[in-house]
Amino acid sequence: MEPFQYKDGQLHAEYVPVAEIASKVGTPCYIYSQSSFERNWQLFDEAFSGREHQVRYSVKANSNIAVLAVLANMGSGFGVISGGELKRVLRAGGKSSSVVFSGVGKSEDEIRYALEQEILGINLESEGELHRVNRIASELGKIANVSVRVNPDIDAKTHPHITTGLRENKFGIPVDEACTVYRQAAELAHIRIAGIAMHIGSQITSLDPFASAVDRMLNLVAGLEREGIRIHHLDLGGGLGIRYRDEIPPTPEQYAKAIEEVLDRHQVNLPVSIDPGRAIAAESGILVSCVEYVKHGEVKNFAVVDAAMNDLIRPALYDAWMDIVPVQQADESPLQTFDIVGPICETSDFLGKNRELNLQPGALIAVKSAGAYGAVMSSNYNSRGRPAEVLVKGRQFDVIRERETIEEVIAKEWIPTRLAS
Ligand code: LLP
Repeated sequence: MEPFQYKDGQLHAEYVPVAEIASKVGTPCYIYSQSSFERNWQLFDEAFSGREHQVRYSVKANSNIAVLAVLANMGSGFGVISGGELKRVLRAGGKSSSVVFSGVGKSEDEIRYALEQEILGINLESEGELHRVNRIASELGKIANVSVRVNPDIDAKTHPHITTGLRENKFGIPVDEACTVYRQAAELAHIRIAGIAMHIGSQITSLDPFASAVDRMLNLVAGLEREGIRIHHLDLGGGLGIRYRDEIPPTPEQYAKAIEEVLDRHQVNLPVSIDPGRAIAAESGILVSCVEYVKHGEVKNFAVVDAAMNDLIRPALYDAWMDIVPVQQADESPLQTFDIVGPICETSDFLGKNRELNLQPGALIAVKSAGAYGAVMSSNYNSRGRPAEVLVKGRQFDVIRERETIEEVIAKEWIPTRLAS
């Protein structure tokens, strides 16, 4: 079943009319399909079923605790990038022993929290971090399981803002320096070397960058083994892209096959893990918004909708093209070309440009593939409360995040008494 499809001209989320949810919950709102999250996770799990593996959902893509609970119920592991994300996984019922912590800037408190919770592992991104983790582990009387995140210097051929595996990116440790870090790690009393990790970018739509990066990683593993440093596990990161417009991304199955080929070539039989985010979450969600005004400018038609860049920043930030569809399919009347814009005072506040639609004030639209890097990147810019989030399963739907009120937005601001009149 497609998670979002038309029945009798009405867009449905699974079996629930989107308009029904919008009228109960209001707009803008994110709507997620639980079945889609489950199926997408399963596709990765099945793709790697030929070897010992773990699919760790990358929490950053969509971290609502209900979404995490869905994935925890599937048996998913989790990739986190902050103490806050770890907290969410635990709140959602995920096991700490299924969590791996990556990121270039882990703070003292975050590392302490992760070690106290006895998570599965920490992916180190610098020498400084190795020593910090060792010291904190020693203070806690624990042994930290670590992998070194290597930067394979591979061009993932994606948007420059979401490329992470190039020499000039801040992520990981260059392959030629990784040996030194491993040698040091092997000497530290509170460190256990678990494996090796990489993540080369996001929205990657061809297999070559993945295959080349794994190849480089395995050359390094062979070098380490020659020095007597055993690698027990390969963490291959996330990054598989989806189709927003006309991309033809590989399927999880093709992706797994390409990786298996490289592993076979190197005769490596280690367990692997992957931490996909977008490929599980994106197509599992839509952002629903209502047209406030239709403005016919001199050279452009604008549909001013009630969702804005604070709700969904991908178009403004990456010039990302995201499909926009009507919730009620148009009748015969002719389509017009619209820029779909929000109420925020920025020219970059748009959801889509030059879209052929038939829009009147009051019409509902849906931005598709908004389940990943949508709600998680929302903000309060222009003092707008963040949107509601809804999870649908079959004919049932539940609000999984209430719309934020302006009172909540300003609740933590204080006027110093000296300013009070
Ligand atoms: N693992 C690590 C270490 C990562 O940094 C990321 C994403 C992932 C896994 C998941 O990657 P995915 O499978 O979702 O491609 N905000 C951007 C995407 C930023 C991705 C950051 N890292 C966007 O909206 O396109």
